[in-house]
Amino acid sequence: LLGTGACAPSNGATMPPSAASAPNGTQVSGADGSIGAAGIGDPDFPTDGNGGYDVAHYGLKLAYDPPTKNLSGVTSVSAKAVQNLSRFNLDLHGFTVRRVTVDGRPATFAREGDELTVSPATTIAKGSSFEVAVDYAGKPDPVRNSSNLGTYGFIPTKDGAFVTSEPNGAKTWFPSNDHPADKATFDFDITVPAGTTVIANGELRGKPVNGGTTTTFSWRESHPMATYLATITLGRFDVKTGRSPGGIPVYAATDPAFRRQLDFLYTTSAKVTDYWSKVFGPYPFSSTGGVIDDFSSGYALENQTKPMYGGFDPDQSIIAHELAHQWFGDSVSITRWKDLWLNEGFATYAEWLWSEHIGGLSAAKTFEDYYAAKQAPMWRYPPGIAQRQDLFNNSVYIRGAMTLQVLRERIGDQKFFDLLRTWTSKHKYGNATTDEFIKLAESMSGRNLTDLFNAWLFKPERPTLR
Ligand code: ARG
Ligand code: ZN
Repeated sequence: LLGTGACAPSNGATMPPSAASAPNGTQVSGADGSIGAAGIGDPDFPTDGNGGYDVAHYGLKLAYDPPTKNLSGVTSVSAKAVQNLSRFNLDLHGFTVRRVTVDGRPATFAREGDELTVSPATTIAKGSSFEVAVDYAGKPDPVRNSSNLGTYGFIPTKDGAFVTSEPNGAKTWFPSNDHPADKATFDFDITVPAGTTVIANGELRGKPVNGGTTTTFSWRESHPMATYLATITLGRFDVKTGRSPGGIPVYAATDPAFRRQLDFLYTTSAKVTDYWSKVFGPYPFSSTGGVIDDFSSGYALENQTKPMYGGFDPDQSIIAHELAHQWFGDSVSITRWKDLWLNEGFATYAEWLWSEHIGGLSAAKTFEDYYAAKQAPMWRYPPGIAQRQDLFNNSVYIRGAMTLQVLRERIGDQKFFDLLRTWTSKHKYGNATTDEFIKLAESMSGRNLTDLFNAWLFKPERPTLR
């Protein structure tokens, strides 16, 4: 069922497939096999990500000027070659690239569509580490009106920018290996006009530095992160920081238009993070929180350590959802987009668990309500195979969550919650597949669960089997 064999994720880094196994002829093979593929090998998104290297770290030193909408600076990409590389690609949408260096030496480069092709002065040897620095500038051009995804990427707002990049909008603001199969740590040094606040992932490294008319914010995310979870949302914000009752640092921020939500966002995020730490296993990152901006995106995004809410008052349920993603999606990441139910089904199930926890509807009752809707469109969409043209279909969320309720009833609460905690600890900071989840569920329960998963994840019809 799963074409994920090409990837062998180990400790948070996935080996991209070799150029020869890249899909759809998106790359030109070098006679010596030293040309990195233009895609990481996700059949549904053939040009997303790239082959031939594995990124360890991104360093973004950028300036953004809201009045002119100009973003400029240098992004450094530290990577390890998994093949010889006379040439390799990064994903980048728009901008003028001014200069590219590899290990400090000027490299030649070319642009075609959203691919930036870099030819270093000398071939990079397989196994060696290298650093690419890309100097670029221009007005970010977010991805707009794409059929079911809305607008995403670096989105300029009245007072700054709303930056949410799922599934492949990181390339609208920094050159990257833009696919969740290649996770990396991040440093952000972002300069903005004085009075503007920059909110990125992880923690602030010291106080913002005053440069007279500008301020530079330095943030560091020291745990591996998928590119789509990176953010530098900026603008005018009120900020509240502290620690959760359980001792986890909390950072909450609201656009002035949502100031009245700041305490609720802070308190609820703290409470939810503490509770999930018991249910799903220790919190994987060094801080938690949330941000409400006044841009009406129509969605929220689980940006690592900083879930982002686009222009609405989040309720407990959606906060519970985005924070559950810190375990399911952010720490344990998908290897291929078709496995998206591993993120959305689990985060939706977490909403049902939260309801149960606060004395609302039980997960079992929530399941029954959805199951009773015999004509719902989700029965025709198997959630275990998320479709690229309708990635965030309701089925991936609801039927994905229903799969977990059926599994819970089949194997019992004890084994079910043990399974969730084993899943998050086994793949912590890494990548995983649906196939691996099924295998773990079977081995931990000592049962063959083929029928259950086939009916609930892979068949385009309403399951009769429970
Ligand atoms: N992962 C987000 C959530 O369920 C949804 C992101 C939708 N992305 C988009 N471009 N519309 O919380
Ligand atoms: Zn979600």
